[in-house]
Amino acid sequence: MAKTAFITGASSGIGRALAHELAGRGWDLGLAARRVQALEELKDEILARTGGSERRVETRSLDVTDTGAVRVVMQELDGALGGLDMVVANAGVALNHKIGSPGFERDEQTIHTNLLGAMATVDAAAEIFNETGGGHIVALSSVAAYRGMPGLGAYSASKAALLKYCEAARVELRGRGTRVTTLLPGYIDTPLNQDMKSRPFLVSAEVGARRIADLIERGVSTSTVPVMPWSVFGLLMRAVPDFLWDRMLGGPRRG
Ligand SMILES: NC(=O)c1ccc[n+]([C@@H]2O[C@H](COP(=O)([O-])OP(=O)(O)OC[C@H]3O[C@@H](n4cnc5c(N)ncnc54)[C@H](OP(=O)(O)O)[C@@H]3O)[C@@H](O)[C@H]2O)c1
Repeated sequence: MAKTAFITGASSGIGRALAHELAGRGWDLGLAARRVQALEELKDEILARTGGSERRVETRSLDVTDTGAVRVVMQELDGALGGLDMVVANAGVALNHKIGSPGFERDEQTIHTNLLGAMATVDAAAEIFNETGGGHIVALSSVAAYRGMPGLGAYSASKAALLKYCEAARVELRGRGTRVTTLLPGYIDTPLNQDMKSRPFLVSAEVGARRIADLIERGVSTSTVPVMPWSVFGLLMRAVPDFLWDRMLGGPRRG
C-alpha cells in the first residue's frame, strides 16, 4: 500500500514541488492551503503526470492560523486517506517589517502562521500518531533560525522557535514510534523570496523538493537544505561574532 503524506502550504513553492516529488515516489497525498483552486490544479497535474494511476490526492481549504481547524482538517484527511504516515508543516509567510516602523501586524501574522500554525500542525500530527503507533513529522524551519535577519525579525524568531519546539517534540515522541525531522532551507526559488535582492546559493523549487524528499526518506533529525553549502554556512552564521555580523549586515554604526 502507498504511504500517505499531508502537506500544509501545498498551493505554491516548496509545498507544491514536494507534492509532485512525493507523488512521483509513490506517495498518496492530502494537500491543504487557503487557495483551493491552486490545490485543485495541482491535483489535476499530479494525476495527469502519474497517468491517472491509483494515486490518491485529497485537497482541503485550510488557514493554519485557525489552529482548531488544523486539527479538524488533519483528522478528516487521516480518515479520507485511510491513515497518515507523514505530516509536513510547511505553510509559511515571510513578511518584511522594520522594527519600530508602522506594520507590526505583519509580525503578528508571521508568528501566527509560521510558529503557532506550524506548532498546531506538529501537535495535531503527534496526537494522531500517538494513537496509530507512530509516523513522521516534518517541519520547515529556515537558516534564518540561526541569526536574526534585518527586516525579517519576526520571520527569524518564528523559525528559531519552531526549531526548538521540534527539538522538544523529537525527544518526547522518540519512544512513541514517531520521528521528527526539522529542515532548514537556504534559498529555494519560490514566490516567498522572489523580491529579495540577494539569494545566495539559490536552487530551484524542484531541486529543493528533491533534496527535501531525500532527507525525509533518510529520516534525518535536523538538516539544512541543500546540505551543502548551507551546513557549513550555517555553522559560520552561528560562529561569527556580533560585532562582525552587525557590521556585515547593518553597515557603519551611528550613535
Ligand atoms: N523558499 C525558501 O527559500 C525558504 C527558505 C527557508 C524556509 N522556507 C520555508 O518553506 C516553507 C514554504 O515556503 P515557500 O518558499 O514554498 O513559500 P511560498 O511559495 O510563498 O508558499 C507558501 C505556502 O504557504 C501557504 N500559506 C501561507 N499562509 C498560510 C496560512 N495562513 N494557512 C495555510 N497556508 C498558508 C501558502 O498557501 P495559501 O496562500 O494558498 O494559503 C503557500 O502554499 C515556509 O514555511 C518557508 O518559511 C522557505
